[in-house]
Amino acid sequence: MAQAEEGVLKIERIPTNIVELIQRVGTHIEPQAAQKEIDLEFDLEVEHLLQLDPVRIEQVVFNLIDNAIRYTKAGGQVRVTVVETRGILEIQVTDNGIGISETDLPHIWERFYRAEKSRSRTAGGSGLGLPIVKRIVELLGGTVQAQSTPGKGTSIRLRMPAVHAKDLLKRNEKHGNSIDSKEERE
Ligand SMILES: Nc1ncnc2c1ncn2[C@@H]1O[C@H](COP(=O)(O)OP(=O)(O)O)[C@@H](O)[C@H]1O
Ligand SMILES: [Mg+2]
Repeated sequence: MAQAEEGVLKIERIPTNIVELIQRVGTHIEPQAAQKEIDLEFDLEVEHLLQLDPVRIEQVVFNLIDNAIRYTKAGGQVRVTVVETRGILEIQVTDNGIGISETDLPHIWERFYRAEKSRSRTAGGSGLGLPIVKRIVELLGGTVQAQSTPGKGTSIRLRMPAVHAKDLLKRNEKHGNSIDSKEERE
């Protein structure tokens, strides 16, 4: 975390199986969900290997699921959806937890910001999770978005370019870039 704060957070892109990666995070975090009897569901629909930083993406996804479990009452639901459409990778973590007020919502990406409800909790986090998530996603060329209704739940959506590992191979083999080929896009 200190690294990220000092601005030396480096991104490395390698062919990554995002489905396996998220399943791994799921296995790791499932006990946390089970402890609160939270139903943790995954809908992972990506077929290709993508050029991503697996270590950083793991950190990002872990942070989002950790928050979703942390800020959802026992017996709740957390759903993780990952899809790739038209060259965009979309990762969405949705919970039916306590939600975030309209006044807090714009600030959750700021360092050390914690909404009133979570500040009063003893078992809280550091307030550093989401700023790091945002930083990593932006370094990968993407954007972050949060939607929430107090008392109903929260949905965090990340979108970033999905570069196929095999497109890169083709690009090297040939001359130009093959990312525009019709076959690859559809
Ligand atoms: N899924 C969520 N549901 C409700 N509130 C959330 C959720 N995710 C984040 N928050 C709010 O955003 C704040 C910042 O999140 P984060 O940076 O991960 O810090 P923390 O260490 O407090 O979890 C949290 O303190 C909490 O108030
Ligand atoms: Mg957190």
